[in-house]
Amino acid sequence: MGASAAAVSALKGRRRISCLTAYDATMASLVDRAGIDVILVGDSAGMVVMGQDDTLGVGMAEMSLFVSAVAAARPGALVVADMPAGSYAGAAAAASNAARLAALGAQAVKVEGGAEVAGQVRAIAARGIGVMGHIGYQPQSGGPRRRGLTRADADSLVASAQALEGAGAFAVVLEMLSSEAAGAVTRAVGIPTIGIGSGPSCDGQVLVLHDMLGVYERLRPAFARRYRDLASEITSAAAEYRADVESGAFPSSAHSFSMGAA
Ligand code: KIV
Repeated sequence: MGASAAAVSALKGRRRISCLTAYDATMASLVDRAGIDVILVGDSAGMVVMGQDDTLGVGMAEMSLFVSAVAAARPGALVVADMPAGSYAGAAAAASNAARLAALGAQAVKVEGGAEVAGQVRAIAARGIGVMGHIGYQPQSGGPRRRGLTRADADSLVASAQALEGAGAFAVVLEMLSSEAAGAVTRAVGIPTIGIGSGPSCDGQVLVLHDMLGVYERLRPAFARRYRDLASEITSAAAEYRADVESGAFPSSAHSFSMGAA
């Protein structure tokens, strides 16, 4: 069992919170070994795993598979599952779909939206399942990519975050907010803000694993620092392997076995 949502929430003001996405057991266990606080089973899987243009192809069936795979790694990190688009259209659906993901090993779920999803947040939290909010750019519904460019929009983002906190959310993702708006939201709520493309004032940060490892080449968000260039590493390893297969250098006797003497 990983960290609790309450323990992650209590990190606000003590130290910054690290969050990365993962969608399978192998990556989840590698990320977990690094001491990352939160593993987000994001619906970004629609793009980086399923090869689609957006997150909308991830439904409950796909998310259930990804959550089960991540949970199989038994991470010490808090496992948060994205609620797929359409899976929380109303409090009853939100609560029962969140319970399905929790039964598969998610300790918390994430929903996109502000005051308009407060009822869903309340219903999920009432089942004892942690809820992370997600405001600013919301990939499931689109809208302007950059938010918090005016004082009025910053105020509305503050109101959204406060509505989520009031409904029982333990943290809130801020996607693509101006640094000033992210700072204002972070100061206005008692729950941690987890930023993506929202500057340094947030209580924590989240990145899509494939972006920070440099393996996703279709889109390179300017805010996503690439810590490695694993795309070229993987391609060059595969090319070496192909050459070895063609030349007969692989497999060697070290990778084969013979009949016993008998
Ligand atoms: O799906 C996802 O990976 C996300 C993060 C970008 C916050 O929602």
